[in-house]
Amino acid sequence: MSQRTLVLLKPDATRRGLIGEIVGRIERKANWTIEALELRTLGREVLEQHYAEHVGKPFYEPLMQFMSSGPVVALVVEGERVIEGVRALAGPTDPISAAPGSIRGDFGTITRENLIHASDSEESAQREIKIFFPGLA
Ligand code: CMP
Repeated sequence: MSQRTLVLLKPDATRRGLIGEIVGRIERKANWTIEALELRTLGREVLEQHYAEHVGKPFYEPLMQFMSSGPVVALVVEGERVIEGVRALAGPTDPISAAPGSIRGDFGTITRENLIHASDSEESAQREIKIFFPGLA
């Protein structure tokens, strides 16, 4: 089943020069297509929409600070089971428990600065793609 997912390379990934490494891992996966890709610095308004489900959590404000601390790369990737697939490439949220071979396992430092966001369901993907690429049909 073909799907779309919204991926963000977080400011730690762009600061550390890992854009090519991470996009490369996604790109090398057979039969996935990058439909949109943009480097941009996120303002408060976009981040409030994107992280609406985390309002009030202890990590919310530091997360907002971190996510606006530098440019991110936003991508829409299309392909077979791509939602599950990109999350598998990323590894779990906490980089310490992420297996070597996964993006967070290989490069992650702390839970907040975990390099990559990937939509967790079809509903999230639809919602998030609209926030970042409202023009995408
Ligand atoms: P992600 O899963 O992409 O979206 C929510 C983000 O919040 C998560 O990545 C981390 O960057 C951050 N996050 C989640 N849980 C914690 C936590 N316990 N402490 C700090 N940051 C967190």
